[in-house]
Amino acid sequence: MSTRVTAPSVQARKVSQGHEPLVMVTAYDAPGARMVDEAGADLILVGDSVAMVVLGYDDTLQVTTDDIAHHTAAVARAKPDAMIIGDLPWMSYHVSIEETVRNAATLVRAGAQAVKLEGGSNRLPMIEALISAQIPVMGHIGLTPQSINAFGGFRVQAKTTQAALELVAEAKALAHAGCFALVLEGVPDDVARLVTDAVDVPTIGIGAGRHCDGQVLVFHDVLGLEDRFVPKFVRRYAELKTVGVAALTEFAADVRSGAFPADDESYHLNAETAEELSLYGHDVDG
Ligand code: KIV
Repeated sequence: MSTRVTAPSVQARKVSQGHEPLVMVTAYDAPGARMVDEAGADLILVGDSVAMVVLGYDDTLQVTTDDIAHHTAAVARAKPDAMIIGDLPWMSYHVSIEETVRNAATLVRAGAQAVKLEGGSNRLPMIEALISAQIPVMGHIGLTPQSINAFGGFRVQAKTTQAALELVAEAKALAHAGCFALVLEGVPDDVARLVTDAVDVPTIGIGAGRHCDGQVLVFHDVLGLEDRFVPKFVRRYAELKTVGVAALTEFAADVRSGAFPADDESYHLNAETAEELSLYGHDVDG
């Protein structure tokens, strides 16, 4: 029997109803997906954060649906039990309902079981069309990185009473429209608690404190592969960049000194062929 995590099984996971918090981690390729899955995460997000942590861009605005589909397909080839969410990138769900559904279908055909998109009630027509096309939708509100230019930078959101109440209203609208879960990013913990209590679908926080129904972090942040900027909400559980640089430095030194490869790391001819070739080599040299 399949142990695959699904949208309906995630939708039921409210901590207030006695469930364990959900665990979501990003992954962008097959080995990353295998690691996240073997660690027992419930959800793998093929996030548009791929733009920053893999492709070297300064923000998430540079990636396209085809980029996310390429990485989603790599994650799907790992055949994880964790549910795969494909992140709809900027401009893939802003122009028209038709484009939105086609772009989401591209991610589903690449292996996503659901899509995520950023925004509140301004996205309701797109969300309704996706759900009517049988594509489960995860909402994403608060500090939505695709709004970096509109926000004037990566800034914590919903810090005033009015903004907090607006966020609660947006969350309710998304849940009412049929989103099976909501990412809450970069909001004060008390506001995340208000939102979490106000909706009957799970909230998954990033920089939103401990009162959410789950937590998500970026793969490269959790593992310490990315050390250029570490936001306050990241906890690094390993220092893989440091370990990696040390290993590569050792490899370079071994190549330069002749210590790599060793005899037992090389393929060898059988004695008869080696003898024949050495005679041949001798003739040629001689
Ligand atoms: O793209 C991403 O990694 C995300 C998470 C930060 C939620 O959207």
